[in-house]
Amino acid sequence: MSHAFAQRLDAVAPSATLAMTAKAAELRAAGRKIYGFGVGEPDFPTPEYVQQAAREAVAKSSHYTNVVGTPELRAAVCEATARDRGWTPSPDRVCVGVGAKHVLFNLALALFEAGDEVIIPAPYWVSYPEQVRLFGATPKIVETRAQDGWRLSAEALRAALTPRTKAIILCTPSNPSGAAYSAEELRALAEVLLGHDCFVIADEIYGELCYDGFEHHSLAKVAPELGERLVIVDGVSKTYAMTGWRIGWSISSAALAKQIAKVQGQSTTNPTAVAQAAAAAALVGPRDEVHRMRELFAARRRRMVEGLNAIPGVSCDMPRGAFYALPNVEGLYGIRHGDKLLASAADVSLWQLDVCGIAAVAGEPFGAPGHIRYSYAASESQIDEALTALRAAVLDAERA
Ligand SMILES: Cc1ncc(COP(=O)(O)O)c(C=O)c1O
Repeated sequence: MSHAFAQRLDAVAPSATLAMTAKAAELRAAGRKIYGFGVGEPDFPTPEYVQQAAREAVAKSSHYTNVVGTPELRAAVCEATARDRGWTPSPDRVCVGVGAKHVLFNLALALFEAGDEVIIPAPYWVSYPEQVRLFGATPKIVETRAQDGWRLSAEALRAALTPRTKAIILCTPSNPSGAAYSAEELRALAEVLLGHDCFVIADEIYGELCYDGFEHHSLAKVAPELGERLVIVDGVSKTYAMTGWRIGWSISSAALAKQIAKVQGQSTTNPTAVAQAAAAAALVGPRDEVHRMRELFAARRRRMVEGLNAIPGVSCDMPRGAFYALPNVEGLYGIRHGDKLLASAADVSLWQLDVCGIAAVAGEPFGAPGHIRYSYAASESQIDEALTALRAAVLDAERA
């Protein structure tokens, strides 16, 4: 059939997080009070000094820039990486794209093809396996357990590697679990990976969001011997409350950077010039806003996790980083919802939306069945109010 759609999309699912966000927005527009724990973005405005830099950049931003980022932004990425991550890349290794999601897409296009396996520890961010599938490669999902802090062990990694393994995508701190690896835990994984010729993609976009004294360790600092095979992915979306500006970057070998530039040069060209100027200002500007947001997230995390654990049938460990809690909700199975009994995390998430107006994303598309991801990028009073309502609904619920 000449007007058929390309088959490569048959294996790809639409984004579950964006679907829940759209559903919550629809209900809100219809006048329902909705508690929004679905979206993965800070609820703070972009810091004023960043907005000011963008206003000033408008007059100078009429033209194309270098495809993978202005010299100023790439230099700012290097400076911030040295300050925050303790290692210093050269600017020719930095490729700026339209958000880290786009950067990961570029990487998938540049690296993956039919026959390749890409190791992805579960729970995972929803886009990783879909991007791998899009290019005909196979995601090799490796389960982790809540009681192990949702962290991949060296043994599990070793067992998953095969001659077809093209890459591993490691996210620390993780969306959706908040799991994060200590330097020793990362080193143990790196020791295994040093013995296997594959790419190692470390998504460190939540690196600045760690709590209770836990420190993020960049894989590039912990295992520099991974050398040319290592790719770090990062961005301004989460740290600087800049999701809408769409700026992220990869730091790879110079050779891979050239391939990425080729990909991007045939698609978006440069990311928006004003957004690049704003991101550069964010990266080298004052740090107090970043610290303030982190402290607020830390307090909300405690509120969210304690509130969830106060609900009979729900249990949640304290995550080390990011801004998500991933409780087990299997204890709620059997609650009656209309003419159905809850039997999956997806059922529970629809029930709590219906009964309490709580929007949060069920764990299945994150590779975490039996769990729901609650983003705590919402005020403490919203968290308290919603979880009080949820507790009451659970205590009140009719069961099988
Ligand atoms: C783990 C992870 N990586 C990458 C991204 C993409 O971020 P952005 O495209 O906004 O830079 C997200 C956003 O939710 C994420 O959670």
